[in-house]
Amino acid sequence: MTTCLDTLTFYFLSAMYSIQYLFLHLINLILHPDRYRLSKTIAVPPRCLSNDDFGTHQYAKLSRYKFHYVEKGDRNNRLLLLIHGYPEFWYSWRFQLRNLSSYYWVVAIDMKGFGDTDKPSARSEYDIPLLVTEMYDFLTAIGRKKCSIVTHGMGGLLGWFFVNKFPDVVENFVSIASAHPYSFLQELSLKRVSNASWYYFCQLPYFPEREEMKQDLVIFDKMFTRMLNSKRGNLTEQDVEAFKYTFSRIEDWVGPMNYVRTLLKRKFLGKNRSLKKTSVPTLFIVGNADPYCSLEMICKSSEYVENFTLKIVEGGGHFLPQEMPNYINSLILDFMKMPEPLLLGMDPVQESGIFKKMIGAGKTVVNYGNQVGNRIIGRNPNLYPMLYF
Ligand SMILES: *[C@@H]1O[C@H](CO)[C@@H](O)[C@H](O)[C@H]1NC(C)=O
Ligand SMILES: *[C@@H]1O[C@H](CO)[C@@H](O)[C@H](O)[C@H]1NC(C)=O
Ligand SMILES: *[C@@H]1O[C@H](CO)[C@@H](O)[C@H](O)[C@H]1NC(C)=O
Ligand SMILES: *[C@@H]1O[C@H](CO)[C@@H](O)[C@H](O)[C@H]1NC(C)=O
Ligand SMILES: *[C@@H]1O[C@H](CO)[C@@H](O)[C@H](O)[C@H]1NC(C)=O
Repeated sequence: MTTCLDTLTFYFLSAMYSIQYLFLHLINLILHPDRYRLSKTIAVPPRCLSNDDFGTHQYAKLSRYKFHYVEKGDRNNRLLLLIHGYPEFWYSWRFQLRNLSSYYWVVAIDMKGFGDTDKPSARSEYDIPLLVTEMYDFLTAIGRKKCSIVTHGMGGLLGWFFVNKFPDVVENFVSIASAHPYSFLQELSLKRVSNASWYYFCQLPYFPEREEMKQDLVIFDKMFTRMLNSKRGNLTEQDVEAFKYTFSRIEDWVGPMNYVRTLLKRKFLGKNRSLKKTSVPTLFIVGNADPYCSLEMICKSSEYVENFTLKIVEGGGHFLPQEMPNYINSLILDFMKMPEPLLLGMDPVQESGIFKKMIGAGKTVVNYGNQVGNRIIGRNPNLYPMLYF
């Protein structure tokens, strides 16, 4: 139940933090005007975005909006639906498209408001029940009644609610560093989320979008620093360019920001927050060096699931599908227990490679002794505040 007090608290916090941010920015703008110039729009899509290894581009026209997705693999196989996080798009799943397509029909969608999918600007277009219904319509449009879902980061916003509403549609659910939205909100209201004030500031129009674009989209350089330094995932300059290209205009940020806006509003402004447990088998993968997903969030997320498996990846950061793609792929395959007949088109050498890695991979490890519990709140100023986690 939401009380009048919750509503007041919400508006009060939003107003206070907005004033604080605007004030800081004003000072910054005076001191460093160069940081606030708008980024150059990148005119030519980087070549990697049309690399055939990652699949083919398709569109599904629903009743109101057009959804863009990239698909790879045999359509007769089971469907693996991949839902990216913030601020990302289908390209975050390139290694899953490339390598899991031997087992599944892999579809990586651009969420509403992201990438090449339509980007309505109204906040009401990003209300959760509407997004969930559209996801169901999307499945119908591509001719499927069943799928397995893998989400990363903010993609969990869709994943968790979809699994809750359509448990019969989803065979398996894998949440990679995406805590249940309600567990995030609980932590946020306890101010135990890194950069909590930023989420309230996001209630303002225009300024948060503008903020994300500052310094030529330095957000993406920060986001990938860890991967570039560790040389994981073979990240190239062109990959970073692909992200900058996709998020180069202010319109490209309005939709993504609206997810933050409607999620917070939903908590504070009187929507039903009790959900029943889902019967869909759920695997939760999280890196123990992920600053956005705390142990509390993981534990609370497990309360929404009957059959919950947790895998903590030693040394893994937030962007696991790109950072440790082969390992993540093997965890997904292992969890879903791919039956042999579906192993299509892999040459024997590669197969044994994958299965070698799988040995010991899927064992449920709940290791409370690791760093997850110690790295909860905003200790790392170098990291940008991705939406939760
Ligand atoms: C993934 O696919 C690429 C290209 O098909 C292949 O070269 C590579 O060995 C695969 N990786 C694994 C771990 O199977
Ligand atoms: C990264 O490059 C190395 C060497 O070329 C290769 O063995 C490895 O499979 C690549 N990783 C990915 C995720 O493609
Ligand atoms: C809230 O959700 C619970 C559990 O799903 C349900 O029993 C209850 O009727 C809902 N309340 C409202 C006001 O919708
Ligand atoms: C939980 O899910 C796993 C993975 O799908 C499955 O193997 C296992 O039998 C399930 N356990 C129960 C109690 O349903
Ligand atoms: C908090 O968010 C703001 C705006 O997004 C960002 O500039 C700042 O670096 C973040 N601070 C931390 C500690 O993450």
